[in-house]
Amino acid sequence: MNEKLDTKMEKITSLAKRRGFVFPGSDIYGGLKGTWDFGPLGVALNNRIKSEWWKMFVDGREDMYGLDSSILMNEKVWEASGHTGAGFADPLVEDAKTGERFRADHLLKDNGIEAEGLSASEMDGLIADNELKSPAGNQLSKVKDFNLMFETQIGAEGKYKSYLRPETAQGIFVNFKNVVDTLSPKMPFGIAQIGKAFRNEIAPREWLFRVREFEQMEIEYFVREEQWEEEFETLRLDIQKWHEHIGLAPENIREYEVPENDLAHYSKRTIDFEYNYPGKGFDELAGFAYRTDHDLKNHEEASGVKMRYVPAEGSPFIPHVLEPSFGVGRALTAVLCEAYTEDEMNGEVRTYLKLPKHLAPYRVAVSPLLKNKPQLVEKARAVFLQLKKEFGNVAWDDNGNVGKRYRRQDEIGTPACVVIDFETLGEEDASLKDTVTVRDRDTGEQSRVAIAELASYLK
Ligand code: GAP
Repeated sequence: MNEKLDTKMEKITSLAKRRGFVFPGSDIYGGLKGTWDFGPLGVALNNRIKSEWWKMFVDGREDMYGLDSSILMNEKVWEASGHTGAGFADPLVEDAKTGERFRADHLLKDNGIEAEGLSASEMDGLIADNELKSPAGNQLSKVKDFNLMFETQIGAEGKYKSYLRPETAQGIFVNFKNVVDTLSPKMPFGIAQIGKAFRNEIAPREWLFRVREFEQMEIEYFVREEQWEEEFETLRLDIQKWHEHIGLAPENIREYEVPENDLAHYSKRTIDFEYNYPGKGFDELAGFAYRTDHDLKNHEEASGVKMRYVPAEGSPFIPHVLEPSFGVGRALTAVLCEAYTEDEMNGEVRTYLKLPKHLAPYRVAVSPLLKNKPQLVEKARAVFLQLKKEFGNVAWDDNGNVGKRYRRQDEIGTPACVVIDFETLGEEDASLKDTVTVRDRDTGEQSRVAIAELASYLK
């Protein structure tokens, strides 16, 4: 996703801005690095991704429970989880002259030197051995660990410290006992939540890929220790199904086994699900980690509250945890990359988003052939309201001529356009009365469909 070199990614991000999917954060003040705002179509696509995820992983199963925990939590949560320490820090290096900051591992990688899993002093050694300079050609400072959590003060006196959560996961762990005590789930079971997370990334980059404020969709799946491998395999296949469901081609997904020396501080095994981003190649889309009993054990020790599951038979135990963790922004990026298509239609190059029906911001657009003919407009409004009742996400589009409307809807991925014309009024052929033109986004083909059958035709 090198913005300068990759024309496909440039086209996608420019379409996303032009068509109201994604705007730079605080745009009128020159932006705020690492923040992006979702416009009307972006929020629609995001909401669809999240609701499809919830349907598949929570409502569609018997073993999952939902949760929505606070972003601000007691600072002890982050001490117990290990996030306040070096385990949740990135290697920071500065341009000694300009003070510009970089991630040392990324700087090394950009210079063709692998730095995965290395300590700050090992990276220092590599920078010295290879006489690396900053991109501006200046000396580099020593590498130091930089904690990624945003710190904040609580209350008017500012006596208490807290953090904006860097993952939604900890909200799940601290509510483990509440869920078990109130719903008595059978093992194995999962708790899922969708919500914002914040990380003070040293160098936010590549559009939505590495940002400072983002959303996660996470599951903590509680198992007996001896079950973890079997359940890991089952969930791995469920994650594959999810990626298929949001329209990502299997050849654009790769599973990367994270080497032991690069595992997060809590993990014994992690698979990164990677997507083949245009111009960037394979990089992380979602993570899937075996977190052992690290979190529940640490919270039990730190809080003094038992974090045990009490089985019908046998002794209480601390469950082990499998964690599928998805970034909404990265999912949206992958979905847009996969959907972005250029072809030729009627001798012209056209751009369209081949979004799956269940993700498209608008299921269908409705328009009168001519907007200055009251009979057409009245009939079209009636069809629009009927479809709106059925689907909700229906667009009314009467700007420009029909060809322009088709192009506009193609560009935002609307799967079908319905046009009310004179035939609908039965003025030319009585047998066509109360039928409309339905134009398919992908093929451009037009069909004649009775209004009475429109909703089921479009489903
Ligand atoms: N609870 C585990 C956890 O947070 P992670 O691999 O650090 O694991 C999970 O994050 C997912 O969250 C990533 O796969 C990615 O999709 C998303 N994510 C993490 N940091 C991000 C960032 N700075 N910008 C955008 N998305 C991010």
